[in-house]
Order: sequence, then structure tokens, then C-alpha cells
Amino acid sequence: MDRYLPQRGRLLTSTRSLPDFEVVSASGPWLHRADGTRIFDGSSGMLTANVGQSSARVLARIEQQFQAYSFGGAAVVQPHIQLELMDRLCRAVGRPQDSVALVTCGTLGVEVAIGLARNIARVRGGKRGGDILTSDLSYHGMSALTLALAGNHARRPRPEDAMGLGPAFPAPYPPTHGHGDGQVCDASCADEVAKAIDSRGAEHVAAVLLEPVNGTTGGAFVPPDGYLRRVGEICRERDVLVIHDEVLTGLWRTGTPLASRHWDGCEPDIVILSKGLGAGYTPVAAVLASPKIAPLIRHADADPLPAMGTMAAHPLMAAACLGVLDELEAMDHDAFRARGERLGASLRSLTDLPGVREVRGLGHLYGVELAPGLLWPLLRQTEQRGVFFYPFTGAGEPRSEGLVVAPPLTSTDEDLDFLTTALTGAVTALN
Ligand SMILES: Cc1ncc(COP(=O)(O)O)c(C=O)c1O
Repeated sequence: MDRYLPQRGRLLTSTRSLPDFEVVSASGPWLHRADGTRIFDGSSGMLTANVGQSSARVLARIEQQFQAYSFGGAAVVQPHIQLELMDRLCRAVGRPQDSVALVTCGTLGVEVAIGLARNIARVRGGKRGGDILTSDLSYHGMSALTLALAGNHARRPRPEDAMGLGPAFPAPYPPTHGHGDGQVCDASCADEVAKAIDSRGAEHVAAVLLEPVNGTTGGAFVPPDGYLRRVGEICRERDVLVIHDEVLTGLWRTGTPLASRHWDGCEPDIVILSKGLGAGYTPVAAVLASPKIAPLIRHADADPLPAMGTMAAHPLMAAACLGVLDELEAMDHDAFRARGERLGASLRSLTDLPGVREVRGLGHLYGVELAPGLLWPLLRQTEQRGVFFYPFTGAGEPRSEGLVVAPPLTSTDEDLDFLTTALTGAVTALN
């Protein structure tokens, strides 16, 4: 058979030119190239392949479901496997009584969460408007609505494409929150959320939508202690729902089942999970609604459920997710947490080297911020040393830049040593 010669320019998937990086097989966190070399996946693909690749547990689940039947929408056959996934997922993240919508990607998860929040706010509070407030350092997806709402202007550069929407409050991170000289962000930054709600009138606001720990927009910024709790209080006082976008951070990426669990008292009304749930084996997102608000979704006066779709809850997707949960629950969690802390300590020591401005993050998610101009040379250096990393877009003006260190959660101590040695060598080689 003739070798397939791809016409790269026709695949409309990335602004940057497509990587010249052919992978012929993969095992765990390692990608094997056609030339026989292997490369370590230091960012879990796009923070997605959280349990590594070629998992026997995931394959077994998919095979079992495939042999039973491969398609039957929840409106067609009894959705056994979707119900099993719902129960298992809710228990895994410590929200056992939540109701769940299953959809096909993070963006759609956010869209469904917005739809649910608007329905609930109207039934519960007789709200007149359905505004969704976001921060100026946020990414919530690639649809016209989520791009319009979020603060990632690299992905939606033209104000005229915002449909009159846009971020409503500053994120609690110094590069974007223009405090006076020397003032750092703290829990009082949540007062900006109160101001944003009050200036529109709470009756027009359905929900505040935020990433509890920032992902790739700013590079793993962690909110000040007490911030998320205060946001929750402000919203409750005003009858506004809180939605946590944990598309990237959910399912142990930051060391805990949900990133918000690093702090007490900030459980959201709605939470969206995606990347770590399918772990790259299947496109998927789950929207979890707390038992306090879920009954309102089925209230007689509620609008139709915004979660129906042909592929909304595909049995093979559900099977793959159960396999991912099998992997996640089989981890030795004490050892896993200790590995995350050791990774963080090794990365933080990079700030002793010239060119590394800051390292921030938690668990298995870190942003390594670099001096301007170093990102692409550094990525070339790390690749030569056998590690792939994903870049982050950056915050502030001029925009910062750096790389996201987010290896698969199932990486071993030796894997992580390989990563940190390669990264240290690459930074040193630039100086
Ligand atoms: C925080 C966050 N929300 C939403 C999304 C959108 O998810 P998807 O790319 O699966 O549509 C992403 C993707 O990177 C994300 O990081």
C-alpha cells in the first residue's frame, strides 16, 4: 500500500504550524517515534492523558461494552452504563448525591452548565436576566458563547466578536489585577465579584463561572487562601449560583479529586469535569449539579433540559470513563500526593536559574514562567532531551509566557526525575 502523505495545511486545528512529530505507539507517559526514540509526555498531551496511554483497564471496559452494544442514546435504551458512571464519578469526587449531564467535550460542558444555571435561576429566584460573570484571566472553551464570555483574548482578539459580553471582574492574580505598588492579591479580591454583581443588579445574574485553579491561560495560578470561599458567600448572599470549571483541574490533577478541595467551604453549585475524566481515551464532559438545585431543573416551570444531544451520553464513552476511574482509584494515593509535592519542590528550585521568573501550581499541575523570548528555544531544548511540554498563553501586559508541567498522574518517581533533569538541563543550556 502507498504511504499516506498528509496535506497538512488543510487540517484546521491549530494556529501554529502542526508539529513534525510522528508517534507510532505509546505506553503510559511515553510516546514512541518512528525513528525508535521515545519522548516523555510532560503535559499529558493537552493536560488530558492523565492515566497515560494504552491502559489495559480502559481497553477491557471498552471491549466489554462494545461486545454488548455500541450505541443506544439515553432516549432510546435504558442507560445502564451511563448511570453506573454517574454513581461512580459522583462518589469519586465526594458529591454522591449530585445529578449529572454527560456531553462530549469541555466547551459543551460549560455551555450546558450555563444553560442549567439560567434555568435554575429563573425557576428559583424569578430572575429577569441570565448573565454569567467570568474573570479576566479565564478560558472556558471554543464556542462563540464561551469565547465571548471568557478573558482569554489571545483566542478571541476582536472586541466586536464578544456579542456585548466579556469578563466581568479581575482574577485574583497580581499580573491582571492592577493593584497599586506592592499590594498582593488576597481573599478581599473577591469583593470585585460583589461589585460586578451589584453593578448589574443581582436579579440579572444567574451565575459566576470560574476556574478554581487557573489552567493554561495564565499558567497554573492558584487563588489566595479564602478567595473561593468568599466568592461563594458573596454569591449565596445574592442568590447567584457558583459554577466551577474543573475541565482541566478535576479528577486529581492538582492532587485532590476537585481543585476546590484545597480549601474549606467553597463547594460550588455546579462543577464541570472533562479532560481527566476521558483521559484522552474518549471525548467527554460531565456537569454535576448539587442536590440543592438539581430538583429545580425538573420543575414544572423550568425550560427544556439543555443537555440533549445525539452523542450526549454514548455508551462507549461511559465505558472508557469507567476504565479511567478504575486507573485513578487503583493509584496509591499517598505515594501519588508525595510525588506531586516532590515534583513541585524540584520545579521551584528552577527559579535559582536565570530565565525562570516564577514557578506556581499544585499537585501535578505547574506553570513555569520564563523571561520573554525563552519559551520556544526552551521547548526545542527540552524536546532534544526527550520531554514534550505544552506552552501557556500568559497573563498581564506585556503577556508572560512559559510552559505547563503536567505529567500523567500515573508517572513513576523515575519518570518525574527524568522530566526534572531534562528541564533543568534545558534551562541551563539557554544561559
Ligand atoms: C478550563 C477549561 N475550560 C474549558 C475548556 C474547553 O474544553 P474542550 O477543549 O474540551 O472543549 C478547556 C480546554 O482547554 C479548559 O482548560
